[in-house]
Amino acid sequence: MDDSAHDARRRRVSPRLYDGVAGALDHAGLARLRADLSRGIEGDVLEVGAGTGRQLPHHPPGARVTATDPDAGALALAARRSPATRTVVAAAEALPFDDAAFDWVVCALVLCTVRDPLAALAEMRRVLRPAGRLRALEHVRSPNRALARAEGLASPLWGAVAGGCHLDRDTRASLVAAGFAGVTARPHLGGNIVLLEAARGA
Ligand SMILES: C[S@@+](CC[C@H](N)C(=O)[O-])C[C@H]1O[C@@H](n2cnc3c(N)ncnc32)[C@H](O)[C@@H]1O
Repeated sequence: MDDSAHDARRRRVSPRLYDGVAGALDHAGLARLRADLSRGIEGDVLEVGAGTGRQLPHHPPGARVTATDPDAGALALAARRSPATRTVVAAAEALPFDDAAFDWVVCALVLCTVRDPLAALAEMRRVLRPAGRLRALEHVRSPNRALARAEGLASPLWGAVAGGCHLDRDTRASLVAAGFAGVTARPHLGGNIVLLEAARGA
C-alpha cells in the first residue's frame, strides 16, 4: 500500500455516513454544480476520488467511465449506484493506467483531500490524451482574507474529522503549477467553490 492509500484508510470517514451527508448537500444545491461538472464530457472518462459514486449518475450516458478511489468500501457503494461503471481501487498519486488513456479526467471534492495535490495532478496529466481535458469541482481557499485566515486555522482540526480534507487549498494555482493549460475557474458561493477546467497542455 502506498502512503496516500494508507492515509485515506487511517483518516477514513464511514462511507455510509459520508454518503448521507453528501446526499443532503446534493439536495441543498450541490447537485446543480455536479450537473455542470459532468456536462458534455465524453469518450473515455476517468473519475478520480469517486467515493460512494454521487457524481456518477450525472455523467452523460455515452461516456465510458472508470471510477477510482483508495477506499474500497466507498467504491463498493459506487459500483452499486452505477453498475455500468468500471471501478478501480487506487490513490490519485499512483493511477494504475497507461499514459494517454483518457479523454477526460474529472473529480468532485477530491483535490482538497489528496495527500499530495501536485503528484495527483501530475498523474492526471499523464493519463490524459494530448487533447484531453481536466474538470474539477472543488472548495478552495476563500478569496476573502479573513475567511481564508480562519480556514487556515480550522483546517488541521477539520482534516482530522473529515478524512484529511483541507479547507484552504489554492487548487487553481496547483493546476497551473502542474502544467495544465488555459486554466479557468468559474466561481460559486463567493469563490469558495469553483468549477475548474483546463487542457492537458503540451
Ligand atoms: C469529499 S469525498 C468526495 C467523494 C466524491 N467525489 C463525491 O463527490 O461525493 C473525498 C474523496 O477523496 C478520496 N481520497 C482520499 N485520498 C485520496 C487520494 N490520495 N487519491 C484519490 N482519492 C482520495 C476519499 O476516499 C473520498 O472518497
